[in-house]
Amino acid sequence: MFEKIELAPADPILGLNEAFRNDDRPTKVNLGVGVYKDNDGRTPVLNCVKQAEARILASQTSKGYLAIDGHPEYRAMVQSLLLGASHPVLAEQRSRAVQAPGGTGALRIAADFVASQTPVKRVWISDPSWANHRQIFETAGLEVHTYRYYDAANKTLNFDGMLADLDALGPQDMVVLHGCCHNPTGVDPDLAQWQTLAACAKQQGWLPLFDFAYQGFAVGVEEDAAGLRHFAETVSELLVANSFSKNFGLYNERIGALTLIAANGEAADKALSQIKRVVRANYSNPPSHGAEVVATILADAELRALWLDELAQMRERIQGMRSALVEGLSSAGVAGDFGFIQRQNGMFSFSGLNGEQVAKLKQDHGIYIVGSGRINVAGLTGHNLDAVIAAIKAVSE
Ligand code: LMR
Repeated sequence: MFEKIELAPADPILGLNEAFRNDDRPTKVNLGVGVYKDNDGRTPVLNCVKQAEARILASQTSKGYLAIDGHPEYRAMVQSLLLGASHPVLAEQRSRAVQAPGGTGALRIAADFVASQTPVKRVWISDPSWANHRQIFETAGLEVHTYRYYDAANKTLNFDGMLADLDALGPQDMVVLHGCCHNPTGVDPDLAQWQTLAACAKQQGWLPLFDFAYQGFAVGVEEDAAGLRHFAETVSELLVANSFSKNFGLYNERIGALTLIAANGEAADKALSQIKRVVRANYSNPPSHGAEVVATILADAELRALWLDELAQMRERIQGMRSALVEGLSSAGVAGDFGFIQRQNGMFSFSGLNGEQVAKLKQDHGIYIVGSGRINVAGLTGHNLDAVIAAIKAVSE
């Protein structure tokens, strides 16, 4: 029966890594997948992680299973990191978190939970959105639609279009919102816009699902959660899928969480019991290491301060690369105003390069970016920047 199976298309993001590995040009540059690189092109293990791991290794006495919902201290710390330790939802004990294998794992748990336990039939993702969103929700049997988000002509948020689309939704709809550092555009709502969106969710009764994979990459850990925190004060029910791949550099540990907020503690407990069934049926219980690392860092004042410092260094290096890219493109005489690159948040820049230009960057110059024109600015370094600018100039002429 297997001989009838057709070859699946390469993944639009992770598939680039394979093509990159098979490219033998020494000057090749991978600006595809959202992974942070330091100025020497390495994806470092953070010092706070190294120190936490040393402590864990010295004190660990067992490799017994974690509970279905994961590491207890980790789950508590995730909620206060997302919501802020003094958020009313925490005081009212209306939130529950389940450890998940990365942000993708958290999204898939959310999708299965929502499809089996709620009236939600349709999921609305931004246009454009992270390339994996659609298949995660479709695989769970949900219908996926898009809401207006990006104004390509002005390289800004099409807030009026977004609001008009979300204003037409109701309790059978779930809306995926990128908590900060929108992937792929880097364009986020401001606080006033978040407030308007939260009022819309409350009035229309649609369920918000925050995809929060880049906390700390726009302005800071607290600032970047402002939209989410306001939503959590406004609506009674909410989901958050978060990831620590990027902000702790724990990519291959697959560590994230799904957090649920319900109208009261009893409803939250019942929902949690169903989420745990989803987990049990999919992978039984989560792996331990990433959760122990994150919990150890967040619980220790010194390690936490070191983490915030290392996160700030990553953020600042990316911002520096944004400025250098803008300056470089304009001094190379590439036509157009690239100031928008500096206004975008997070790892990515939605360059505006079209499919043909993206293909040429790869074929003629060995520079790999996502087909939508998304550049991973976190992969630019002092060593590859000039080559990238020269290639963009060549494909833009
Ligand atoms: C990305 O968008 O590049 C990252 O979120 C990695 C991934 O899994 O696609």
